[in-house]
Amino acid sequence: MSLKEKLNPDKLPKHVAIIMDGNGRWARKKGVARVLGHRSGVTPVREVVEASGELGIQYLTLYAFSTENWGRPVEEVKALMGLLVATVKNETARLVKNNVRLHTIGDVGMLPESIRKEIDHLIEKTKNNTGLNLVLALSYSSRWEILKAVRAIMDEASAGKIKSEDLTQEIFGNYLETKNIPDPELLIRTSGEQRISNFLLYQIAYAELYFTPKLWPDFRKEDYYAALLEFQNRERRFGKTSEQL
Ligand code: IPE
Ligand code: IPE
Ligand code: MG
Repeated sequence: MSLKEKLNPDKLPKHVAIIMDGNGRWARKKGVARVLGHRSGVTPVREVVEASGELGIQYLTLYAFSTENWGRPVEEVKALMGLLVATVKNETARLVKNNVRLHTIGDVGMLPESIRKEIDHLIEKTKNNTGLNLVLALSYSSRWEILKAVRAIMDEASAGKIKSEDLTQEIFGNYLETKNIPDPELLIRTSGEQRISNFLLYQIAYAELYFTPKLWPDFRKEDYYAALLEFQNRERRFGKTSEQL
């Protein structure tokens, strides 16, 4: 029985988030430039997008570029931005055809104009699609997001639009970039690093964390199924006891 067949279709997460890490180490192992590692990271993106759509997963969030990644060498940032435009362009037809709807989270205003244009175009083109919601985290970090939310709430409080006693977790969630997106139930990180690196800190309160030593460019559908299978074998207790579930 293949891993895919072992998956219980009734127990799939609604939302999977992935920290796609290890492109640089993949390149170093091969003795090639880091940018080639990033380029080789496009195939696994295609694989997880396709697999998610096939399985009927509703949301897939990919951490593509963090706020902190702006601090990398200028050449690498440039290369990553170039790759992003090229990928968005190349994948447009496929995403439209596969009924994928694109969203972004993050400080996209920081991105070069040419990229913003391509992305806005793709968001517009896919806005009526009803399959997988693909969320790209670009120039994203949780602390940036949370601080932005707090500022907006403070401004509204000063304007008398909201009172502190009326603020609930639900309302707070509406100020986050992930407004209207359910919390991820499964967070995958490749490359063996076991940290969150400023990703969806608030939203992963009860997510299952899955770490794999596979470097992102080597990640394939089978690896994704393995993560989903492990997810299905975990007992999610949400603070309760086993007996209560
Ligand atoms: C992930 O791979 C891609 C981005 C962060 C943009 P890395 O570039 O972080 O690869 P490593 O961690 O150096 O191997
Ligand atoms: C996290 O990876 C960001 C993305 C995958 C886009 P990093 O490689 O930037 O994280 P650290 O520096 O190892 O924590
Ligand atoms: Mg890394």
